[in-house]
Amino acid sequence: MSLTSIGVPRQKITVATLREKKAQSQPITCLTAYDYSSARLVDEAGIDIVLVGDSLAMTMLGHEDTLSVTMDEMLHHTRAARRGVKHALLMADMPFGSYHADANDALRNATRFVKEAGAEIVKIEGGEKRADLIRRVIDAEIPVAGHIGLTPQSVNVMGGYKVQGKSLAGVEQLMRDAVALDRAGVACMILEGIPREVAAMITAEVKTPTIGIGAGLDCDGQVLVLHDILNLTFAPPAKFVRRYGDAAELISHAAQAFRADVHSRQYPAESESYHLPRETQAALETVLARKQAMKR
Ligand code: KIV
Repeated sequence: MSLTSIGVPRQKITVATLREKKAQSQPITCLTAYDYSSARLVDEAGIDIVLVGDSLAMTMLGHEDTLSVTMDEMLHHTRAARRGVKHALLMADMPFGSYHADANDALRNATRFVKEAGAEIVKIEGGEKRADLIRRVIDAEIPVAGHIGLTPQSVNVMGGYKVQGKSLAGVEQLMRDAVALDRAGVACMILEGIPREVAAMITAEVKTPTIGIGAGLDCDGQVLVLHDILNLTFAPPAKFVRRYGDAAELISHAAQAFRADVHSRQYPAESESYHLPRETQAALETVLARKQAMKR
């Protein structure tokens, strides 16, 4: 039974809540949502963070990777999600190219997410080498979520989507990245596609809440892509994805049933049709009868 169902009002999740949850060892939950209806359902399910991820480039827009999605597209989806979210923390993903040139660019684009779309926190990929830029954004009163490990915007540099931190040098780099983000003051950090052991070490080392995706059980929270857990990706799932529903089956089945009903004239039924009021019907019949009589 949820707290809201027994009349206890649900608390608004803020960046402070994330820190409290880490301190109290309460798991943090995060799901992606890119539009009003899905964001509303995710929010109402009690999820802590709604992430308007740049994964929408693939899941919503049909691109091969996340690289081509634009600021305007991300803002459009963030605004839609904003209208559906009441209690969760609304996180917007800064797309490729929106912060890579310099800190001024990062600041300008992060500000757009807050002012034009109502985001409460922005997410920036990269660790050590982005720490100064992230500090600038935080200094401008915009909370930042870090994102390290398998960072999809670096796909061309990584040579594919590969688990990171498998070598000793890789582990050391990840530790440096995590510590740099921790010192920069991020509100949380996403750990993606890294060995469980490394995620556990980072989580124990930093005061920042860690949120894992393909990073094992020891993180302070977990994030998944809504389309992955609903079988809406048209591709075999990654190892860490757990399917909680089959929206592909639901949508196909509904579309096929509608098509069959229209073809067999089973849709719409009488109960699904509007009718003229009795007086209008009577008046119409009089007019038609008069026209008929004049023709004779
Ligand atoms: O864009 C996204 O959906 C993400 C998550 C995978 C963390 O960055």
